[in-house]
Amino acid sequence: MKSRLKLISPAAAAAPRQRILSIRGLCKTFPGTGSFQKVLEGIDVDVKRGEMICILGRSGCGKTTLLNILAGFIPPTSGSLLLDGRPVARPGPDRCVVFQEDALFPWLTVEENIAFGLRAPQRTVRQEVERFLALVGLTEFRSYLPREISGGMKQRVALARVLILKPAVLLMDEPFAGLDAQTREEMQNLLLDLWARLNHTILFVTHDVAEAVKMADRILLMDTNPGRIREEIRIGLPRPRENEAGHFLEICRGLLAKLRG
Ligand SMILES: Nc1ncnc2c1ncn2[C@@H]1O[C@H](COP(=O)(O)OP(=O)(O)O)[C@@H](O)[C@H]1O
Ligand SMILES: [Mg+2]
Repeated sequence: MKSRLKLISPAAAAAPRQRILSIRGLCKTFPGTGSFQKVLEGIDVDVKRGEMICILGRSGCGKTTLLNILAGFIPPTSGSLLLDGRPVARPGPDRCVVFQEDALFPWLTVEENIAFGLRAPQRTVRQEVERFLALVGLTEFRSYLPREISGGMKQRVALARVLILKPAVLLMDEPFAGLDAQTREEMQNLLLDLWARLNHTILFVTHDVAEAVKMADRILLMDTNPGRIREEIRIGLPRPRENEAGHFLEICRGLLAKLRG
């Protein structure tokens, strides 16, 4: 009887996680040569706080456009976009973006890059920079310049300097696509580790099926021309996920077939 009571205890019956992002009927057209190109059509997405969402689709399907709209860099043609119940109209510190190519300041050191966006008393900045240097494993490289470190390390800096701002939503546009396979895997593991510790909400764009299956709670599979969300796939595999395991490969194969079809 006792164990039965445990099953319906508040922890077990935890309230559904709160919705943080709500996208409704989002469309985007770009003016083309004599016509309009419809890039995104009827995008509806809800994201819960703490979720890891992967947006998976072929090159040119509109992933970057969608992320740019979420970041507030460009406006949608129609549709609505609510973050924490408020409309998104411009870029803000509540949404940070990590791109494929690192966008570090070449004249600032690793720690200066990480500190750059943080507006806080000097002592807090020092403590936070220390903490995030350690979290991404760059404490010993704090005084290096971007040109003195590897591509993977640059992406660690890029990650640290947005995580330090504690964005409500972290937007990542194929952040590891330019890295070699091994570094890429290390970065995926690092991001998953930080996500588990810091409880971020992450929208992660990729065209790589295995990366999406490794990272995501939920994959939004996109169609091309116009870009639409064709299907939502919940990945229930336990973490850490082994890319060689049978079930993992089975999901990858299914997704690949859908991407090709
Ligand atoms: N500023 C723009 N003006 C016109 N067309 C654009 C613009 N940005 C993107 N596009 C077009 O939108 C489509 C989707 O691009 P993009 O969002 O970059 O796709 P993805 O990131 O999935 O590769 C492409 O056909 C691209 O040419
Ligand atoms: Mg892109």
